[in-house]
Amino acid sequence: MQHITSEEIAEMEKLFRLNLINSVTGYKSANLIATKSEKKGVNVAVFSSVTHLGSNPALLGFITRPTKEVARNTYKNIKENKYFTVNHIQKNMIESAHQTAAKYDEEISEFQQTGLEEEYLDNFYAPYVKQSKVKLGCEYVNEYYIKENNTVMLIGAIKHIYFDEGIQAPDGWLRLDDAETVAINGLDGYTLPSLLDRFHYARPGQEIKSFFKKED
Ligand SMILES: Cc1cc2nc3c(=O)[nH]c(=O)nc-3n(C[C@H](O)[C@H](O)[C@H](O)COP(=O)(O)O)c2cc1C
Repeated sequence: MQHITSEEIAEMEKLFRLNLINSVTGYKSANLIATKSEKKGVNVAVFSSVTHLGSNPALLGFITRPTKEVARNTYKNIKENKYFTVNHIQKNMIESAHQTAAKYDEEISEFQQTGLEEEYLDNFYAPYVKQSKVKLGCEYVNEYYIKENNTVMLIGAIKHIYFDEGIQAPDGWLRLDDAETVAINGLDGYTLPSLLDRFHYARPGQEIKSFFKKED
């Protein structure tokens, strides 16, 4: 097996290290975060750091770098207006989704540049991505500065959830491979996971039981 130490990581060429470290921590969620500014219009960008924080209250978080040197429109718009949407990236949208990472000027809408469509639902302030099959309307709750690498974890409350009815199981669970939601491998790889199995709650000393496989 290949073995790499922290000293070797520190000595690596920048892009090589970026690719290695971004992929070695595993698959990440693939989402488009969309926001709106009254003066500068709409914004949408790809994020791989959106993560579940808790279900009651329903909270999510994502990591961003609010530096002064590079404008961060998503962060700025959320701070100004409090609302944002999180939209799953589907198999048929990966090129458009990736293109949203390009550094467009604040006045330029990534929606117009990429063919992704804005959609407004139930009077929510921020736009959703029409092509997305799973989308969340969120409200800013708080943020935590991470001093170790000058980033911020922004916390959002989930206010609205939309998805195609066909992907939900009777117990609430969403089968994301039915929606063709992708995952991110590294910083530029998009992959389509397929479900292997689903298990009942694990208890010490009890055999793992599948939801799908019939008992003999
Ligand atoms: C696959 C992928 C994942 C990304 N994930 C994040 C992320 O989690 N946080 C972040 O701040 N930027 C992330 N980026 C970079 C942003 O998409 C990029 O900086 C974008 O221009 C930000 O747009 P904004 O300035 O309009 O907010 C990612 C880029 C790619 C290609």
